[in-house]
Amino acid sequence: MREEKIMILGIESSCDDTSAAVVCNRRLLSNVIASQKVHEKYGGVIPELASRVHQQNIIPTVSAALAEASVDKEKLHAIAFTRGPGLMGSLLVGLSFAKGLAAALNIPLIEVNHLQGHLLSHFIEVDRKPAEVDGQHAKVDGKPSQPPFPFLCLLVSGGHSQIVQVNSPAEFDIIGETIDDAAGEAFDKCAKVMGLPYPGGPVIDRLAKAGDPQKFVFARPKVSGLNYSFSGLKTSFLYFLQKKVAAEPDFIVAHQADLCASLQKTIIDILMEKLIKAVNQTGIRHVAIAGGVSANSALGNELRHLGKQFDWTVYIPEPRFTTDNAAMIAVAGYFKYLDSEFCTMDVAPFTR
Ligand code: KG4
Ligand code: ZN
Repeated sequence: MREEKIMILGIESSCDDTSAAVVCNRRLLSNVIASQKVHEKYGGVIPELASRVHQQNIIPTVSAALAEASVDKEKLHAIAFTRGPGLMGSLLVGLSFAKGLAAALNIPLIEVNHLQGHLLSHFIEVDRKPAEVDGQHAKVDGKPSQPPFPFLCLLVSGGHSQIVQVNSPAEFDIIGETIDDAAGEAFDKCAKVMGLPYPGGPVIDRLAKAGDPQKFVFARPKVSGLNYSFSGLKTSFLYFLQKKVAAEPDFIVAHQADLCASLQKTIIDILMEKLIKAVNQTGIRHVAIAGGVSANSALGNELRHLGKQFDWTVYIPEPRFTTDNAAMIAVAGYFKYLDSEFCTMDVAPFTR
């Protein structure tokens, strides 16, 4: 029997990245991301500006993804797009474009939940020379392996912090989640307090490398079960700095690396405490991370360390698949294509 080759175009526009990707089954042929710089000077994403820039970027981004994949649009089997959660204006751009193109090509339209996309980012297949295998995934025959079902995934991004039990590509249980801010928000808001640019997560990650994570101690929240809370940390960090700066005006600059390292360690400790609890409760020892914050180098190191200590198999996505990208949307779309899970042309975005 000839193996079928399904070509899916994925489109992601939930926040401030316009992205388009082409997969052949789960194999990645292209993944183009147009990031928006306009938000940097405002210290956060301005929704009105984001939709306007998506509108400018969407056609060039999709054209580039098809060209890079060397796939004619007539060869596509389906179009997958992010339906939500996200910013309404941003989602509408990707969704409307996907509808128009699917109608013009007379092919099925597939809606993908953005969070499902992040969870399934572990199933993107990439052609690699053995020398390029990144040492992050568990390896089978020299190739990075993918988590078996069920696995646990700590999904940490700018909008979400959840522990998810992933039972199959289509079935998830959220077993813990934040009751207020997301972990990425904690990084970004604390970075802003220190006068660092947006998004603050990657900047803190870089500066923390030269700092002492034990230098300062910040309060850990007390939240029941597997849930998280990050709003208290942000507030106590702000008050701590205000007090220090009153006594020593250039305190932040003088202690920048130590502040970043200590704050980062606090966020990681909070995340890992509940993840350990989740493993103990479920007995599932295949543990993955996903979402923008999973790009954090210290978080990855800590997960690897815990994996060795507790005999877990850990799965850390390649950095380019941690933040928002259409490759994960295309792969999630492929799984839905196999189940003939198509949507109708009257589908509307959802923001939360
Ligand atoms: O998944 P993502 O691109 O967008 C959402 O769906 O929210 O995640 C963006 C978040 C931002 O808060 C950003 O600061 C954070 O991911 N982030 C990081 C790192 N890279 C991105 N946080 C900590 N360390 C990093 N290296
Ligand atoms: Zn995301």
